[in-house]
Amino acid sequence: MNERDSEAMAAVLLEKGHEIVTDEKTADVLLFNTCSVRDSAERKAVGKVGILKRLKKIKPDIFIGILGCMAQRKGDELLKELPHVDFVLGTDQLGRLPEVIEKETKKREKISYTETNSDIIQGLGHHLIKNKTSEFISIMRGCDMFCAYCIVPYVRGREKSRPQDEIVNEAKKIVRLGIKEITLLGQNISAYGLNQRTNIRPENSPFAELLYKLNNIDGLKRIRFASPHPYFFNDNLINAIAELPKVCNSIHLPIQSGSDKILQKMNRRYDTAIYMDVIKKLKAKVPDITFSTDIIVAFPGETEEDFLASKNLMNEVGFDNAYLFKYSPREGTPAAKSENQIPAAIKEERHQILLADLSVRTTKHNKALEGTTLEILVEGPSKRNSERWTGRTTTNKVTIFDPCPSIKPGDLINIKIDRSTSMTLFGKIVS
Ligand code: 5AD
Ligand code: SF4
Repeated sequence: MNERDSEAMAAVLLEKGHEIVTDEKTADVLLFNTCSVRDSAERKAVGKVGILKRLKKIKPDIFIGILGCMAQRKGDELLKELPHVDFVLGTDQLGRLPEVIEKETKKREKISYTETNSDIIQGLGHHLIKNKTSEFISIMRGCDMFCAYCIVPYVRGREKSRPQDEIVNEAKKIVRLGIKEITLLGQNISAYGLNQRTNIRPENSPFAELLYKLNNIDGLKRIRFASPHPYFFNDNLINAIAELPKVCNSIHLPIQSGSDKILQKMNRRYDTAIYMDVIKKLKAKVPDITFSTDIIVAFPGETEEDFLASKNLMNEVGFDNAYLFKYSPREGTPAAKSENQIPAAIKEERHQILLADLSVRTTKHNKALEGTTLEILVEGPSKRNSERWTGRTTTNKVTIFDPCPSIKPGDLINIKIDRSTSMTLFGKIVS
């Protein structure tokens, strides 16, 4: 989400005549778009901004701005903690960036704008499309779920969905510019367009309707999305994924924990039975489907038994990939106040156990693909070795191959896989 927001802001500034430089020493303006989801992300951002103190001493005219979630959470406090920072812009204030850079900072007063806004932020639909086949589109902002560990609803505010037409037009526009694959983004994407909520799981899915509309766009080849919440993952959405050829066969569906007790404490609103029901239905309808997930280990009160339930569920689903996090207390969230915090050593131990399990599984999954022929979307020369090219399978696996002159980025081609590692597939073009 932050990558997408940063790109949109860069595109807006370029349109206004600014230029992107590659070396921070030559920049007049330095912007940090920050994440607050875990403490480590915030510390990294503070560290990076801190390093610029020296540059600011040598070049006092540069402007340094902190944007996004940490800016929203800490506001003025950041200006005190990092006195060389000139301005702080919260999540609903990103649209003011050009005005802040071009006018307000000239006054040389410190600025902190963190007001929240109930309207969806405008001006973040711009894209930088150059040598790209794939692009993000944000379809909603904020989150109303208030999972007990999560800071997002506090820093990104209430859920706001963009109108369907606006999203479809944005997708058409970037497809006309050469994009072949879009990844739709939203903190609670399966709840897109569900403004009125009751305590019953909704049966309709405006998100599924959006997928049908996007699937009709000529020239668009693939659609991905992140991150859906299992509570809103109903049959309408399952059917859309099964029916729509452009929707990729890899679904990211965060489970967070395999223990029903912990899921309840997390305020996730589903149990493992509901989650497994979605997985089973999708596996039955889409034979080649793969799943990835997010799991938090050592949530307050997580016993050895709860942890083993997560480990077992990971095996039961057979996730193809997983983002595994150690619980990080976020000030102001209910879980941070819990007295049952788990010691750091146990957090680390549980994290390592799941990471090791995952690596064994991904290696095995990739090995099983050796000898098969897979369709990949061509991206272009590999970053490590430009003589070899890279692309991705519908299940989002990076695939390396030797190019041939008739193939260009954005093509869908068949590759016979002859080798693999836990991260990558290697193969040859099938003509
Ligand atoms: N600690 C650890 N991980 C967290 N996540 C969200 N909040 C926290 C936290 N306090 C994880 C969840 C979410 C992902 C984006 O980040 O797994 O799905
Ligand atoms: Fe955070 Fe996702 Fe829960 Fe929203 S649904 S509160 S973004 S973990």
